[in-house]
Amino acid sequence: MKLIFLGSPGAGKGTIAAKGVEICKVPHISTGALFRSAITAMSPLGCQVKALIEAGRLVDDETAIFLVKERLAQEDTQSGYILDGFPRTIFQAEALAQFSAVDKVVNFDIPDAVVLERLSGRRVCRKCGANFHIIFNKPKQEQHCDVCGGELFIRKDDQEEAIRERLEVYREQTIPLIEYYRKQGLLVDIDAQGSVDSVVASFKQALGMQ
Ligand code: AP5
Ligand code: MG
Repeated sequence: MKLIFLGSPGAGKGTIAAKGVEICKVPHISTGALFRSAITAMSPLGCQVKALIEAGRLVDDETAIFLVKERLAQEDTQSGYILDGFPRTIFQAEALAQFSAVDKVVNFDIPDAVVLERLSGRRVCRKCGANFHIIFNKPKQEQHCDVCGGELFIRKDDQEEAIRERLEVYREQTIPLIEYYRKQGLLVDIDAQGSVDSVVASFKQALGMQ
């Protein structure tokens, strides 16, 4: 199953994708996580994208497309994947169509007020990238990841100003993808406001797995 996860910042794409890996038995590919790893490693890619990401702006299309094209050429993605955070522009969607045919596009729908609440309490594992929340998804130990024990940190783009910029960029550049994929008959909408369990249940239902 080749899936795209669409949705605003904080909609829960990464959280549900982590569950989707078990449900669908496919790898989770998050372009945001790939860029953050490059920043941590201080690689040339990381140095190129650091300021943009921290300010909440998009990386240029060519760089994002190159990264995903390389990742989708790897063996483990041949029977399926969950693409989280790509495509984010019509240009990226048209490029993706040249090298991979997706089966479904899952659109996670939440209002902006919920976005702020979710992102301001998010904590991310520096080692494995797992997402937690100080109220909704508390780690067992305050500053350590339940999955691998790594240190938890606050993403620089989870500061209020960067969140507002990300929402603006989402409205301008990514929302048009909803109609783009709806017209192709690929889109399924999910109400992403409920608990993680209820969103997972809607996800399974959307895939005809329940
Ligand atoms: P990216 O990492 O993709 O960020 P994003 O799209 O802004 O989405 P988030 O990761 O913030 O939110 P999410 O939907 O994954 O929510 P999560 O599950 O964590 O991209 C970062 C940056 O990289 C971009 O701004 C851009 O600069 C660059 N970039 C990436 N891809 C690019 C591309 N293709 N082109 C150009 N640039 C690109 O959940 C959020 C919080 O809520 C967590 O704390 C979680 O525990 C909690 N939570 C989740 N679900 C629930 C629930 N149901 N109930 C209660 N709490 C919940
Ligand atoms: Mg994410």
